[in-house]
Amino acid sequence: MPTKNQNLLNWAEETAALCKPDRVCWCDGSQQEYDNLLREMVDAGMAIPLNREKRPGCYLFRSHPSDVARVENRTFVASKNREDAGPTCNWIDPDELKATMTVLYDGCMKGRTMYVIPFSMGPIGSPISKIGVEITDSPYVVVNMKIMTRIGTAVLDALGDGEFVKCLHSVGKPLEPGEKDVSWPCAPSIDQKYISHFPEERMIWSYGSGYGGNALLGKKCFALRIAGVQARDEGWLAEHMLILKITDPDGKSAYVCGALPSFCGKTNLAMVVPALPGWKAETIGDDISWMKFGEDGRLYAINPEAGFFGVVPGTSMKSNPNAMKTIEKNTIFTNVGLTDDGDVWWEGCGTPAPAHLIDWEGNDWTPGCGRTAAHANARFTAPACECPSIAPEWEDPAGVPVSAILIGGRRGTAIPLVNESLDWCHGVFLGSIMGSETTAAAIGLAAGVRRDPFAMLPFTGYHIGDYLRHWLDIGKKTDASKLPGIYFVNWFRKDENDKFIWPGFGENSRVLKWILERVSGTGKAIQTPIGNLPAPGAIDASGLDVSEGDMAGLLKFDKEAWREEIASIKENYKSYGGRLPEELGEELAKLENSLK
Ligand code: GTP
Ligand code: SPV
Ligand code: MN
Repeated sequence: MPTKNQNLLNWAEETAALCKPDRVCWCDGSQQEYDNLLREMVDAGMAIPLNREKRPGCYLFRSHPSDVARVENRTFVASKNREDAGPTCNWIDPDELKATMTVLYDGCMKGRTMYVIPFSMGPIGSPISKIGVEITDSPYVVVNMKIMTRIGTAVLDALGDGEFVKCLHSVGKPLEPGEKDVSWPCAPSIDQKYISHFPEERMIWSYGSGYGGNALLGKKCFALRIAGVQARDEGWLAEHMLILKITDPDGKSAYVCGALPSFCGKTNLAMVVPALPGWKAETIGDDISWMKFGEDGRLYAINPEAGFFGVVPGTSMKSNPNAMKTIEKNTIFTNVGLTDDGDVWWEGCGTPAPAHLIDWEGNDWTPGCGRTAAHANARFTAPACECPSIAPEWEDPAGVPVSAILIGGRRGTAIPLVNESLDWCHGVFLGSIMGSETTAAAIGLAAGVRRDPFAMLPFTGYHIGDYLRHWLDIGKKTDASKLPGIYFVNWFRKDENDKFIWPGFGENSRVLKWILERVSGTGKAIQTPIGNLPAPGAIDASGLDVSEGDMAGLLKFDKEAWREEIASIKENYKSYGGRLPEELGEELAKLENSLK
């Protein structure tokens, strides 16, 4: 046994006794182990090696068509008390849920290997890192975890006999003796899938899905839902945020975090190539930020992950050249098109569609056939160290000091391009009222705008009202002057022809520039009832291809639209019940009065 941790040994033994795998494998995290697993999956027809000249070290997987994204209605927070899960988490009594899932887990790994993956969120051995162990019957999960986190023997050494988060995962497809495996095993129906969290026990049980956030349990399940509960108890923040380093033409650097909902531009902003001459941007993280107070009273952010699980469609040399370079090698692609010469292709990749390819479902595909070649939520899994824009300090265990926090979503109307909060409490208010239009990152969501506080609606492991209270409390732990400014952004305003008005991507650097000018006290703004908007001309528009009229529209405070917005926010606040912090109710009342 590679560990003496009795708690871990017992848990692995009990799990094997319940799930009844044919064999157990403790993952050492080596390159050889990774290569062997991929070879086995290629031999079994689960993975396709891509053209070695065009995509060295790259593989393609095709998921089952029912298993393409997170399943929010099958994601559960099983706190002891129902009230602690609040109105936004699906709650089941933990004893009941364990009983149901234990029946499912019984014999679920028959015919398969049970892998034990020790993993570290954050650099191994650093005081800010946290250790988990994922037990899974999916070799796809093992190779993805190797890229997305730090795994293996070194983690066990760092763990010693310490505590870890138990993460149990099964695809939910046992094999009968002699039964041939399918290329993407998963539970046959949606109501057999469970993504369950036991916050008091710091434990995760996932069953039935092999995809992304449902199965790579270090990511949303641990680093957000369980770590969020730890962060609440320990006085820090675990957030769905990118972390970006920006350096101005004078060589002065600052760090910003950004909470944008799934599919709303975190990876793109994290790897942005500024359109503004002389400006430089570097990547620290693209999805999750853990923030703790440093000795100087400022918030410091670390990226607990080691790779990117990024949206493929729309990624091109024009929109995100750094991502394109990152995924040239050593990348796992899931649900993209396969060209006849063994490369990959997707909608919005910037090169014309080939005359023929095999689509994400394994069928022949030709341009104009009426289907997309890649699934809308097709993903790449790529090591952060392959990213040309990765910042040298991205693994600094001390983290990076945060000067500004961006919040925002995908809104066709109403929400301006950028809006500065007046103080921390007002910033938390803006975070609490964030909304975003439905995207492909989760299955089964109704179309339209939904409130997604701090981009955490699907990722909080406790009552949303308590979560917002925790944000307010964080603001009281240090001098107001040391807190990051909070900025509400929206890259997604549309015109009457359904076209994006703001060019986005590299041009977002213009907004970042104004934000940093505000932080340092030089940027010009005008106060409005919703916050400080850029004064006319304050956003650097040199060389920008947006008409003055459009620019004015993007930066306008639209009283009528906000009246409607308030009605919908009120509805949402009502659902939070008595646990909505009073301060936020007061902010809403203030805003409503100012619109009268
Ligand atoms: P998750 O991985 O689901 O958390 O998504 P994300 O927040 O990292 O979003 P990502 O950067 O992958 O972008 C999602 C989609 O939005 C892609 O299709 C992008 O091309 C598109 N997108 C990103 N930034 C912009 C922008 O500034 N403007 C416009 N119009 N689209 C953008
Ligand atoms: C998201 O949906 O926010 C993602 C993808 O980053 S997943 O890992 O599937 O949650
Ligand atoms: Mn995400």
